[in-house]
Amino acid sequence: MRSGKAKMRLSPSPGAARGFNALGMQEQGDRIVVADRLKSIAPFRVMELMKRAAQLEAQGCRVVHFEVGEPDFNTAEPIIEAGRRALLDGHTKYTHALGTEALREALSRDYRQRLGVAVPAERIVVTAGASGGLLLLSALLLNPGDGLLVTDPGYPCNAAFARIVGGAAQPLALWASAGYLPQVDDLAAAWRPNTAGLLLASPANPTGAVMDRARLAEVAGFVHRAGGFLILDEIYQGLTYGPPPTADTGLRGNDGLMALNSFSKYFGMTGWRLGWVVVPEALVAPIERLAQNLFISPSSVAQQAALAAFSPEAMAIHEARRRHFDARRRQLLGGLEALGLRAAAAAEGAFYLYMDVSSSGLDSQEFCWRLINEFQVAATPGIDFGEREARRFVRFAYTTDDESIGLGLERIGKALEAWGGLGGEA
Ligand SMILES: Cc1ncc(COP(=O)(O)O)c(C=O)c1O
Repeated sequence: MRSGKAKMRLSPSPGAARGFNALGMQEQGDRIVVADRLKSIAPFRVMELMKRAAQLEAQGCRVVHFEVGEPDFNTAEPIIEAGRRALLDGHTKYTHALGTEALREALSRDYRQRLGVAVPAERIVVTAGASGGLLLLSALLLNPGDGLLVTDPGYPCNAAFARIVGGAAQPLALWASAGYLPQVDDLAAAWRPNTAGLLLASPANPTGAVMDRARLAEVAGFVHRAGGFLILDEIYQGLTYGPPPTADTGLRGNDGLMALNSFSKYFGMTGWRLGWVVVPEALVAPIERLAQNLFISPSSVAQQAALAAFSPEAMAIHEARRRHFDARRRQLLGGLEALGLRAAAAAEGAFYLYMDVSSSGLDSQEFCWRLINEFQVAATPGIDFGEREARRFVRFAYTTDDESIGLGLERIGKALEAWGGLGGEA
């Protein structure tokens, strides 16, 4: 039943007189009724900070951006060229709901050749980004009232996907002292009678932590014994900087695990909105039914373009970019540590550093606001990623060029000096 409290009255606007509200939507009488579920969907707090950055830029200030969660590089030229050709060749129609056969085969080949694991094309479902995959998997696996364990800290939208389908997001604490890697004891403590499954990411956002095979096997074993499902978000696959292998997948040796992936990050295609999930064979038909209803099909032109992502020319560009990210990681991490800030995790993956800023004497929210207002450096406060220790941590993304990283470090150094930090704990 809709509660009266869910009814929102939007402020009057010139359009309201014509029966439209401030958002340009037609009103029902003078009210717009928003579903109750909206109450549990949080906005990104960093958006306010980004608005402030845009304001400063409009005033002519140079802002250093460490808050952006996407590669600054444009999509590699061979992919753009394939996309251009696809449009001219008429790839402008719906495709199969599960994705084109050609792309599913190309993904299967890539798993075999680059990652050394056999993943049949039939188990690969192409989606509208990992976000589309998250919606499909949530709708596929969660009944109303079911719990989905999501990490704290973690990607903030995970909880929203669970809630949108009537499920509950249940926090699994990750600890700075454990390098932000999941511990089976914590998992056992967090698992509730209504918990249906666990969603983990490796490499992880916001910490950059990478799980090794032994830990994943331990976690997968626990989830299996508990009778739940395990989704592993591998959207940052390929962006790892530790010892080889540089790219790995949890699909190796973990039967039943569902992998979530995307062309957004390693392949630098955020705006093309293309990803994929790998599910057990028995789930392909039901997920196809959902995909048909929710999306009809993934983007045709994006799928055609993505075929070129695996060409030797494109892979050489992606690999060069990975090495470039690694150089930036070292520059930023070394610089921040020299300023007295500490990284919690080994930060061997993705393009994020999750830094403990408590030595500045400020909590992470205040740290970020003062940094943008007083020194024109944007970074994301930990509270966007969870609650646990969130007031001590700030995410710095090295998705900006080397010169900007240098300038950002210089400004952060001045900020810490000006605030007289590096003394007290927040
Ligand atoms: C961990 C994680 N999962 C999923 C996504 C969604 O990515 P996309 O929908 O662009 O594939 C993101 C985006 O930043 C992310 O960081």
